[in-house]
Amino acid sequence: MTGQVVVVGSANVDLVVDVPRHPAGGETILGGDLRRTPGGKGANQAVAAARAGGADTTFVGALGRDESGELLLASLAGAGVRTDTVERVDAPTGTALITVSPDGENAIVVAPGANSRVRVGAAQARRIAAADVVLAQLEIPLDTVIAAARERRAGALFVLNAAPSRDLPDALWDQLDVLVVNEHEAADLAGAGSGAATPEELAAALLARVPAVVVTLGAAGSLVAERGADAVRVPAAKVAAVDTTGAGDTYCGVLAASLAGSGRAGSGLLRAAHLAGSAGALAVTRPGAQDAVPDVADVVALAETLGKAS
Ligand code: RIB
Repeated sequence: MTGQVVVVGSANVDLVVDVPRHPAGGETILGGDLRRTPGGKGANQAVAAARAGGADTTFVGALGRDESGELLLASLAGAGVRTDTVERVDAPTGTALITVSPDGENAIVVAPGANSRVRVGAAQARRIAAADVVLAQLEIPLDTVIAAARERRAGALFVLNAAPSRDLPDALWDQLDVLVVNEHEAADLAGAGSGAATPEELAAALLARVPAVVVTLGAAGSLVAERGADAVRVPAAKVAAVDTTGAGDTYCGVLAASLAGSGRAGSGLLRAAHLAGSAGALAVTRPGAQDAVPDVADVVALAETLGKAS
């Protein structure tokens, strides 16, 4: 995997507390010690593309002029991500409040801060134009996501992880090459009127608007669906989940890295999903988001053990 990936998205400092269960509305519960770790869907995906996917990776984002911004820059640089297109702005670095229950499930609230200022200026556009894959999510302004997609060169892929869930304007649908969603996001985008319920039905409904869809299914793996081909289920490795925070981001980063190495989607998408699934499985066995991203050698070894990444 040696292609160039540009990730356009959010960066947050994650304030994480382990809890015996997630609190209900109006309830106070006691949790464990507070952890402060690097996160944000965009930065997590950039770290994953570089460390777990082995891609030459650039992050386009915005950080405050604060200590949280320094924490994130250090994490990105430590993974080998290029950060010269990250802007420092007059707003606090994004912050995510996260609780993690004993089964590894999380609940997250994000204060976007500087993420609301992410933009595609001349320097960012130049780097995007050199990329094989441009990967974005939805924790930054939609106009920025659309602008990033439009700056890619002919033949480069635009991959959108439509998280957190929100409606997409036609101007964004029209740019998509690959859509990555979990079942909830898939149902939101397909719409109640579609009548779709199973992952296969949801993917089929979404293929009306995008050439390729990956539906992530947690411990059940993922579903890869492309126009003109049968949808394929990709099983996941069985692991003991410690913390699922950022596992989907690890999946997306490695998917993008693999697609960048293999040229276009198509035959490459299925292999990319196998590698991404292995990376995501390893990520849930460790606490944290960026801190849990595995090394590329471990990802490839697990995928080969599963006999899928030849
Ligand atoms: O997907 C996990 C991420 O969502 C966390 O790192 C948090 O910062 C939020 O962006």
